[in-house]
Amino acid sequence: MGKNYKIAVMGGDGTGPEVAAEGIKVLQAAAAKFGFSMSLTDFDYGGDRYLRTGEVLPDNAVEELSKHDAIFLGAIGHPDVKPGILEKGILLFLRFALDQYVNLRPVILYPNVETPLKNKGPEDIDFVVVRENTEGLYAGAGGVLKKGTPDEIATQESINTRKGVERCIRFAFEYARKRNKKKKVTLCGKTNVLTFAFDLWERAFYEVAKEYPDIEADYAHVDATCMWMVKNPEWFDVIVTDNMFGDIITDLGAMIQGGMGIAAGGNINPEGVSMFEPIGGSAPKYTGLNVINPMAAIGAAQMMMDYLGETEAAVAIENAIKYVVAEKLESLSAGKMGYSTTEVGELVAEAVSR
Ligand code: IPM
Ligand code: MN
Repeated sequence: MGKNYKIAVMGGDGTGPEVAAEGIKVLQAAAAKFGFSMSLTDFDYGGDRYLRTGEVLPDNAVEELSKHDAIFLGAIGHPDVKPGILEKGILLFLRFALDQYVNLRPVILYPNVETPLKNKGPEDIDFVVVRENTEGLYAGAGGVLKKGTPDEIATQESINTRKGVERCIRFAFEYARKRNKKKKVTLCGKTNVLTFAFDLWERAFYEVAKEYPDIEADYAHVDATCMWMVKNPEWFDVIVTDNMFGDIITDLGAMIQGGMGIAAGGNINPEGVSMFEPIGGSAPKYTGLNVINPMAAIGAAQMMMDYLGETEAAVAIENAIKYVVAEKLESLSAGKMGYSTTEVGELVAEAVSR
Protein backbone atom coordinates (compact mmCIF):
# COMPACT_ATOMS: atom_id res chain seq x y z
CA MET A 1 0.00 0.00 0.00
CA GLY A 2 1.30 3.44 -0.93
CA LYS A 3 1.20 6.40 1.35
CA ASN A 4 -1.76 8.65 1.93
CA TYR A 5 -1.10 12.38 1.80
CA LYS A 6 -3.30 14.94 3.47
CA ILE A 7 -3.40 17.89 1.08
CA ALA A 8 -5.03 21.22 1.91
CA VAL A 9 -6.43 22.78 -1.26
CA MET A 10 -6.88 26.55 -1.35
CA GLY A 11 -8.26 27.42 -4.75
CA GLY A 12 -8.45 31.07 -3.75
CA ASP A 13 -9.52 33.86 -6.07
CA GLY A 14 -10.19 34.50 -9.76
CA THR A 15 -8.90 31.69 -11.92
CA GLY A 16 -7.18 30.09 -8.91
CA PRO A 17 -9.85 27.42 -8.34
CA GLU A 18 -9.89 26.54 -12.07
CA VAL A 19 -6.15 25.97 -12.34
CA ALA A 20 -6.00 24.22 -8.95
CA ALA A 21 -8.67 21.77 -10.16
CA GLU A 22 -6.48 20.81 -13.14
CA GLY A 23 -3.48 20.37 -10.85
CA ILE A 24 -5.57 18.00 -8.73
CA LYS A 25 -6.72 16.13 -11.82
CA VAL A 26 -3.10 15.47 -12.73
CA LEU A 27 -2.22 14.53 -9.14
CA GLN A 28 -5.04 12.01 -9.13
CA ALA A 29 -3.74 10.44 -12.34
CA ALA A 30 -0.29 10.23 -10.73
CA ALA A 31 -1.71 8.72 -7.55
CA ALA A 32 -3.52 6.00 -9.51
CA LYS A 33 -0.44 5.21 -11.53
CA PHE A 34 2.14 5.25 -8.77
CA GLY A 35 0.09 3.70 -5.99
CA PHE A 36 -0.39 6.44 -3.43
CA SER A 37 -3.53 8.23 -2.33
CA MET A 38 -4.52 11.70 -1.23
CA SER A 39 -7.07 13.07 1.19
CA LEU A 40 -7.98 16.50 -0.12
CA THR A 41 -9.51 19.15 2.12
CA ASP A 42 -10.84 22.33 0.57
CA PHE A 43 -10.30 25.69 2.26
CA ASP A 44 -12.32 28.64 1.00
CA TYR A 45 -9.79 31.28 2.05
CA GLY A 46 -9.74 34.21 -0.35
CA GLY A 47 -11.53 37.34 -1.50
CA ASP A 48 -15.07 35.98 -1.69
CA ARG A 49 -14.92 34.64 1.83
CA TYR A 50 -13.47 37.95 3.03
CA LEU A 51 -16.23 39.97 1.35
CA ARG A 52 -18.85 37.64 2.84
CA THR A 53 -17.50 37.40 6.39
CA GLY A 54 -15.22 40.42 6.86
CA GLU A 55 -12.53 38.03 8.03
CA VAL A 56 -9.33 37.51 6.02
CA LEU A 57 -8.52 34.21 7.71
CA PRO A 58 -10.25 32.45 10.59
CA ASP A 59 -8.30 32.22 13.87
CA ASN A 60 -7.70 28.50 13.46
CA ALA A 61 -6.37 28.72 9.87
CA VAL A 62 -2.74 28.00 10.73
CA GLU A 63 -3.70 25.20 13.10
CA GLU A 64 -5.98 23.58 10.50
CA LEU A 65 -3.51 23.91 7.64
CA SER A 66 -0.72 22.55 9.85
CA LYS A 67 -2.52 19.21 10.04
CA HIS A 68 -1.70 18.59 6.38
CA ASP A 69 1.32 17.22 4.58
CA ALA A 70 1.25 20.09 2.07
CA ILE A 71 -0.87 22.98 0.82
CA PHE A 72 -1.87 23.40 -2.81
CA LEU A 73 -2.79 26.99 -3.64
CA GLY A 74 -4.48 28.43 -6.73
CA ALA A 75 -4.15 32.21 -6.42
CA ILE A 76 -4.87 35.05 -4.02
CA GLY A 77 -6.08 38.51 -5.16
CA HIS A 78 -9.62 39.80 -5.75
CA PRO A 79 -10.60 42.84 -7.87
CA ASP A 80 -13.17 44.00 -5.27
CA VAL A 81 -10.72 43.93 -2.37
CA LYS A 82 -8.20 46.71 -1.86
CA PRO A 83 -4.73 45.51 -2.97
CA GLY A 84 -2.65 44.32 -0.06
CA ILE A 85 -5.37 43.03 2.24
CA LEU A 86 -5.55 39.50 0.88
CA GLU A 87 -1.93 39.34 -0.27
CA LYS A 88 -0.66 40.32 3.15
CA GLY A 89 -3.46 38.76 5.17
CA ILE A 90 -3.40 35.36 3.49
CA LEU A 91 -0.41 34.68 1.27
CA LEU A 92 2.32 36.50 3.17
CA PHE A 93 0.74 35.69 6.52
CA LEU A 94 0.82 31.96 5.80
CA ARG A 95 4.37 32.05 4.43
CA PHE A 96 5.44 33.68 7.70
CA ALA A 97 3.24 31.76 10.12
CA LEU A 98 4.22 28.40 8.62
CA ASP A 99 7.85 29.55 8.49
CA GLN A 100 8.13 28.68 4.81
CA TYR A 101 11.52 30.27 4.65
CA VAL A 102 12.39 29.42 1.06
CA ASN A 103 10.46 30.37 -2.02
CA LEU A 104 11.76 27.97 -4.62
CA ARG A 105 11.17 29.11 -8.18
CA PRO A 106 12.51 27.08 -11.08
CA VAL A 107 13.20 28.94 -14.32
CA ILE A 108 13.22 26.21 -16.95
CA LEU A 109 12.51 26.66 -20.63
CA TYR A 110 10.81 23.55 -21.98
CA PRO A 111 11.34 22.43 -25.59
CA ASN A 112 9.19 24.21 -28.18
CA VAL A 113 8.25 26.99 -25.75
CA GLU A 114 8.83 30.46 -27.05
CA THR A 115 11.19 32.66 -25.07
CA PRO A 116 11.62 36.39 -25.75
CA LEU A 117 15.39 35.85 -25.58
CA LYS A 118 16.94 35.71 -29.01
CA ASN A 119 19.14 32.69 -29.74
CA LYS A 120 18.47 31.02 -26.39
CA GLY A 121 16.98 27.58 -25.98
CA PRO A 122 16.21 24.97 -23.32
CA GLU A 123 19.93 24.22 -22.91
CA ASP A 124 20.50 27.84 -21.87
CA ILE A 125 17.58 28.47 -19.53
CA ASP A 126 17.64 26.00 -16.68
CA PHE A 127 18.13 27.40 -13.20
CA VAL A 128 16.28 27.88 -9.93
CA VAL A 129 15.88 30.88 -7.66
CA VAL A 130 15.97 30.31 -3.92
CA ARG A 131 14.20 33.39 -2.60
CA GLU A 132 14.29 34.09 1.13
CA ASN A 133 10.61 34.11 2.05
CA THR A 134 10.12 35.34 5.62
CA GLU A 135 12.31 38.43 6.08
CA GLY A 136 13.77 41.41 4.22
CA LEU A 137 11.50 44.26 3.19
CA TYR A 138 8.54 41.91 3.54
CA ALA A 139 8.91 41.65 7.33
CA GLY A 140 6.74 44.72 7.82
CA ALA A 141 9.22 46.76 9.86
CA GLY A 142 8.93 50.51 9.61
CA GLY A 143 6.14 52.98 9.91
CA VAL A 144 4.64 56.25 8.97
CA LEU A 145 4.58 59.64 10.69
CA LYS A 146 2.54 62.74 9.91
CA LYS A 147 0.58 60.83 7.32
CA GLY A 148 -1.18 62.94 4.72
CA THR A 149 0.78 66.07 5.58
CA PRO A 150 3.58 67.67 3.54
CA ASP A 151 5.95 66.43 6.28
CA GLU A 152 4.98 62.80 5.94
CA ILE A 153 7.73 60.28 6.69
CA ALA A 154 7.53 56.66 5.61
CA THR A 155 10.13 54.02 6.38
CA GLN A 156 10.28 50.39 5.40
CA GLU A 157 13.21 48.48 6.79
CA SER A 158 14.80 45.31 5.51
CA ILE A 159 15.16 42.75 8.27
CA ASN A 160 17.93 40.19 7.81
CA THR A 161 18.73 37.76 10.58
CA ARG A 162 21.83 35.62 10.61
CA LYS A 163 19.65 32.57 11.21
CA GLY A 164 17.18 33.40 8.45
CA VAL A 165 19.85 34.21 5.91
CA GLU A 166 22.01 31.23 6.74
CA ARG A 167 19.26 28.61 6.54
CA CYS A 168 18.20 29.96 3.16
CA ILE A 169 21.76 29.92 1.84
CA ARG A 170 22.29 26.39 3.15
CA PHE A 171 19.11 25.29 1.37
CA ALA A 172 20.51 26.74 -1.87
CA PHE A 173 23.78 24.81 -1.57
CA GLU A 174 21.95 21.59 -0.73
CA TYR A 175 19.69 22.17 -3.69
CA ALA A 176 22.62 22.73 -6.06
CA ARG A 177 24.05 19.44 -4.90
CA LYS A 178 20.74 17.64 -5.35
CA ARG A 179 20.18 19.21 -8.78
CA ASN A 180 23.62 18.01 -9.80
CA LYS A 181 23.86 20.23 -12.87
CA LYS A 182 26.32 23.13 -13.02
CA LYS A 183 26.89 22.82 -9.26
CA LYS A 184 27.02 26.55 -8.74
CA VAL A 185 25.28 28.91 -6.35
CA THR A 186 25.14 32.61 -7.16
CA LEU A 187 24.38 35.04 -4.38
CA CYS A 188 22.32 37.88 -5.85
CA GLY A 189 22.71 40.98 -3.69
CA LYS A 190 23.73 44.61 -3.64
CA THR A 191 26.90 44.65 -1.55
CA ASN A 192 28.04 47.96 -3.07
CA VAL A 193 25.11 49.91 -1.62
CA LEU A 194 23.22 47.83 0.96
CA THR A 195 26.36 47.51 3.04
CA PHE A 196 24.66 46.30 6.22
CA ALA A 197 22.19 43.76 4.93
CA PHE A 198 24.28 42.27 2.15
CA ASP A 199 27.41 42.29 4.22
CA LEU A 200 25.60 39.85 6.49
CA TRP A 201 24.46 37.85 3.46
CA GLU A 202 27.92 37.82 1.91
CA ARG A 203 29.68 36.65 5.07
CA ALA A 204 27.10 33.95 5.71
CA PHE A 205 27.29 32.90 2.06
CA TYR A 206 31.05 32.37 1.95
CA GLU A 207 31.07 30.67 5.35
CA VAL A 208 28.40 28.19 4.27
CA ALA A 209 30.16 27.77 0.90
CA LYS A 210 33.17 26.31 2.73
CA GLU A 211 31.00 23.36 3.75
CA TYR A 212 30.30 22.67 0.07
CA PRO A 213 33.68 22.41 -1.68
CA ASP A 214 32.00 20.57 -4.58
CA ILE A 215 29.79 23.61 -5.32
CA GLU A 216 31.07 26.81 -6.90
CA ALA A 217 30.17 29.98 -4.99
CA ASP A 218 29.53 33.01 -7.15
CA TYR A 219 28.26 36.55 -6.57
CA ALA A 220 26.33 39.05 -8.72
CA HIS A 221 24.67 42.36 -7.87
CA VAL A 222 20.92 42.31 -8.44
CA ASP A 223 21.04 44.76 -11.33
CA ALA A 224 23.74 42.71 -13.03
CA THR A 225 21.75 39.55 -12.31
CA CYS A 226 18.86 41.02 -14.34
CA MET A 227 21.25 41.79 -17.14
CA TRP A 228 22.79 38.29 -17.17
CA MET A 229 19.40 36.60 -16.92
CA VAL A 230 18.61 38.17 -20.28
CA LYS A 231 22.04 38.07 -21.89
CA ASN A 232 23.61 34.88 -20.49
CA PRO A 233 21.01 32.87 -18.56
CA GLU A 234 23.16 29.76 -19.11
CA TRP A 235 25.54 31.07 -16.45
CA PHE A 236 23.06 30.34 -13.67
CA ASP A 237 22.34 27.15 -11.79
CA VAL A 238 21.01 28.15 -8.36
CA ILE A 239 20.52 31.81 -7.45
CA VAL A 240 19.99 32.67 -3.78
CA THR A 241 18.69 36.09 -2.81
CA ASP A 242 16.57 38.09 -0.41
CA ASN A 243 12.80 38.39 -0.46
CA MET A 244 12.40 41.59 -2.49
CA PHE A 245 15.09 40.89 -5.07
CA GLY A 246 13.75 37.36 -5.35
CA ASP A 247 10.26 38.66 -6.02
CA ILE A 248 11.51 40.88 -8.82
CA ILE A 249 13.96 38.55 -10.55
CA THR A 250 11.48 35.66 -10.57
CA ASP A 251 9.00 37.67 -12.61
CA LEU A 252 11.81 38.25 -15.07
CA GLY A 253 12.55 34.54 -14.83
CA ALA A 254 8.93 33.66 -15.54
CA MET A 255 9.03 35.73 -18.72
CA ILE A 256 12.17 34.09 -20.10
CA GLN A 257 10.73 30.62 -19.48
CA GLY A 258 7.60 31.34 -21.46
CA GLY A 259 5.39 33.42 -19.19
CA MET A 260 3.14 33.25 -16.18
CA GLY A 261 1.25 30.36 -17.74
CA ILE A 262 4.11 28.01 -16.91
CA ALA A 263 5.88 29.50 -13.86
CA ALA A 264 5.45 27.53 -10.64
CA GLY A 265 6.85 27.89 -7.16
CA GLY A 266 6.98 26.32 -3.74
CA ASN A 267 6.96 28.03 -0.36
CA ILE A 268 9.11 25.58 1.51
CA ASN A 269 9.56 24.80 5.15
CA PRO A 270 11.76 21.68 5.04
CA GLU A 271 10.78 20.84 8.61
CA GLY A 272 7.13 21.85 8.35
CA VAL A 273 4.22 22.34 5.98
CA SER A 274 5.01 23.70 2.53
CA MET A 275 2.70 25.47 0.09
CA PHE A 276 2.85 25.14 -3.69
CA GLU A 277 1.45 27.68 -6.12
CA PRO A 278 1.47 28.92 -9.68
CA ILE A 279 3.17 32.31 -9.39
CA GLY A 280 0.98 34.14 -11.90
CA GLY A 281 -1.83 35.46 -9.73
CA SER A 282 -5.59 35.30 -9.99
CA ALA A 283 -6.07 36.77 -13.52
CA PRO A 284 -9.63 37.95 -12.67
CA LYS A 285 -10.56 38.90 -16.23
CA TYR A 286 -10.36 35.26 -17.30
CA THR A 287 -12.38 33.89 -14.38
CA GLY A 288 -14.90 31.22 -15.31
CA LEU A 289 -14.08 31.29 -19.03
CA ASN A 290 -12.15 27.99 -19.09
CA VAL A 291 -9.32 29.69 -21.01
CA ILE A 292 -6.57 30.16 -18.42
CA ASN A 293 -3.45 28.03 -18.77
CA PRO A 294 -3.29 25.59 -15.84
CA MET A 295 0.28 24.47 -16.62
CA ALA A 296 1.84 26.56 -13.83
CA ALA A 297 -0.51 24.96 -11.30
CA ILE A 298 0.34 21.55 -12.72
CA GLY A 299 4.02 22.46 -12.35
CA ALA A 300 3.32 23.39 -8.73
CA ALA A 301 1.70 19.97 -8.28
CA GLN A 302 4.85 18.40 -9.70
CA MET A 303 6.99 20.33 -7.20
CA MET A 304 4.70 19.16 -4.40
CA MET A 305 5.20 15.52 -5.42
CA ASP A 306 8.94 16.01 -5.46
CA TYR A 307 8.81 17.59 -2.02
CA LEU A 308 6.66 14.76 -0.63
CA GLY A 309 9.18 12.23 -1.91
CA GLU A 310 7.00 10.85 -4.74
CA THR A 311 9.88 11.24 -7.14
CA GLU A 312 8.53 8.95 -9.86
CA ALA A 313 5.26 10.85 -9.88
CA ALA A 314 7.12 14.16 -10.07
CA VAL A 315 9.20 12.98 -13.03
CA ALA A 316 6.11 11.61 -14.80
CA ILE A 317 4.28 14.91 -14.36
CA GLU A 318 7.25 16.87 -15.62
CA ASN A 319 7.54 14.66 -18.69
CA ALA A 320 3.81 15.00 -19.30
CA ILE A 321 4.03 18.80 -19.07
CA LYS A 322 6.94 18.79 -21.52
CA TYR A 323 5.05 16.56 -23.93
CA VAL A 324 1.81 18.56 -23.87
CA VAL A 325 3.61 21.87 -24.14
CA ALA A 326 5.78 20.70 -27.03
CA GLU A 327 3.29 18.59 -28.98
CA LYS A 328 -0.15 20.00 -28.26
CA LEU A 329 -0.42 23.61 -27.13
CA GLU A 330 -0.35 26.37 -29.70
CA SER A 331 0.62 28.95 -27.10
CA LEU A 332 0.98 29.23 -23.34
CA SER A 333 -1.23 32.33 -23.19
CA ALA A 334 -4.78 32.33 -21.89
CA GLY A 335 -7.29 31.79 -24.69
CA LYS A 336 -4.62 30.94 -27.26
CA MET A 337 -3.66 27.43 -26.22
CA GLY A 338 -5.86 25.72 -28.81
CA TYR A 339 -7.48 23.92 -25.88
CA SER A 340 -9.55 24.90 -22.88
CA THR A 341 -8.25 24.89 -19.29
CA THR A 342 -9.94 21.57 -18.54
CA GLU A 343 -8.71 20.01 -21.78
CA VAL A 344 -5.13 20.92 -20.98
CA GLY A 345 -5.52 19.28 -17.56
CA GLU A 346 -6.92 16.17 -19.25
CA LEU A 347 -4.08 16.03 -21.77
CA VAL A 348 -1.49 16.14 -19.00
CA ALA A 349 -3.39 13.65 -16.83
CA GLU A 350 -3.64 11.23 -19.77
CA ALA A 351 0.05 11.57 -20.50
CA VAL A 352 0.81 10.81 -16.84
CA SER A 353 -1.41 7.71 -16.92
CA ARG A 354 0.17 6.35 -20.07
C1 IPM B 1 4.70 36.58 -5.40
C2 IPM B 1 3.72 37.70 -5.34
C3 IPM B 1 3.56 38.12 -3.89
C4 IPM B 1 4.90 38.56 -3.37
C5 IPM B 1 2.49 39.21 -3.67
C6 IPM B 1 1.15 38.79 -4.23
C7 IPM B 1 2.36 39.57 -2.21
O1 IPM B 1 4.13 38.75 -6.13
O2 IPM B 1 4.40 35.49 -4.86
O3 IPM B 1 5.78 36.76 -5.97
O4 IPM B 1 5.29 39.72 -3.53
O5 IPM B 1 5.60 37.72 -2.80
MN1 MN C 1 5.94 38.39 -7.23
